Amino acid sequence: MSGGNTTGEGIDRLLGEKAQQVNGILERILASESRMDSGIREAVTYVLRAPGKRVRSALVLWSCEVVSGRANRNAEIAAAAIEMVHTYSLVHDDLPAMDDDYVRRGQPTCHKAFDEATAILTGDALLTLAFEILSKEIDTPEMGLRLVCQLAEDAGPAGMIAGQMADLRAENGVCNKGLLEYIHTNKTAKMFRCAAAMGAICGGARKDEFDSLCEYGLKIGLGFQIADDILDVSASSQQLGKTAGKDLRAAKCTYPAVAGVARSKELERELAEEAVEALEVFGERADILRQLARALLERTK
Ligand code: IPE
Ligand code: IPE
Ligand code: MG
Ligand code: MG
Ligand code: MG
Repeated sequence: MSGGNTTGEGIDRLLGEKAQQVNGILERILASESRMDSGIREAVTYVLRAPGKRVRSALVLWSCEVVSGRANRNAEIAAAAIEMVHTYSLVHDDLPAMDDDYVRRGQPTCHKAFDEATAILTGDALLTLAFEILSKEIDTPEMGLRLVCQLAEDAGPAGMIAGQMADLRAENGVCNKGLLEYIHTNKTAKMFRCAAAMGAICGGARKDEFDSLCEYGLKIGLGFQIADDILDVSASSQQLGKTAGKDLRAAKCTYPAVAGVARSKELERELAEEAVEALEVFGERADILRQLARALLERTK
């Protein structure tokens, strides 16, 4: 993920391990969903097996570890659920009616590999399945309900959907700092907040710990989307596994377009440091999340 300094390499390895763990959980869930229609199963499997970085799901597992010392089975289910919702958001984001993209995670987008209707239904299936596993597989009904509420709020019409709507509406329009922050906070940062919050819930966090992790998630999530915008103008399609340069062509409201690349990088660094500050309550226990915040600054894909 990163450019190659020692910290970066360390976190890359740890993130790789977490990605493997998440892939294993997703495979187990796919194997246990024997009732799935075979057509939709093929497309769901295609998009879930594609090599995503699994950053949000890793964040669920690490947040739970920071709070309780280990990532428990509930956190594994929550990690799978957020990865499913994130993957659905990408499948729909790539549709012709949205960003109209051909390549995702280094392979043809779902609507190219299958067709548009299948891609719409694949997104629907992933979204529904995420809530199904949370409602069935979390140990206690109280915890299951809290996770369902958190995910619904952050991925829903006052969260990721709101951001996606504003992102599309803003194409070719007047873009200012306020609108930009609204779009990026909603379409991306809230899913990171959600990941941190779900890990906190699974780990049995106190209120102050929960709030700190939410703050951390929002900060690194906003930074993550700024980095995505910067990479769109500075990296190659091959490096990204998706089409580079598309934001400018679609006249998207992005940080580099409004603030320039240099100021955008500065903002990203400020957000990473604010994210680190938000973890004070945990002391050294949260070092892995501090490393993650700083490593995301160096990411190259
Ligand atoms: C892409 O997210 C969409 C954004 C919100 C920037 P990621 O960069 O995490 O994509 P994957 O999951 O690794 O493919
Ligand atoms: C996507 O933002 C955000 C969500 C999918 C919610 P982008 O449109 O910038 O993501 P990419 O660049 O296509 O991955
Ligand atoms: Mg988009
Ligand atoms: Mg897009
Ligand atoms: Mg982008």
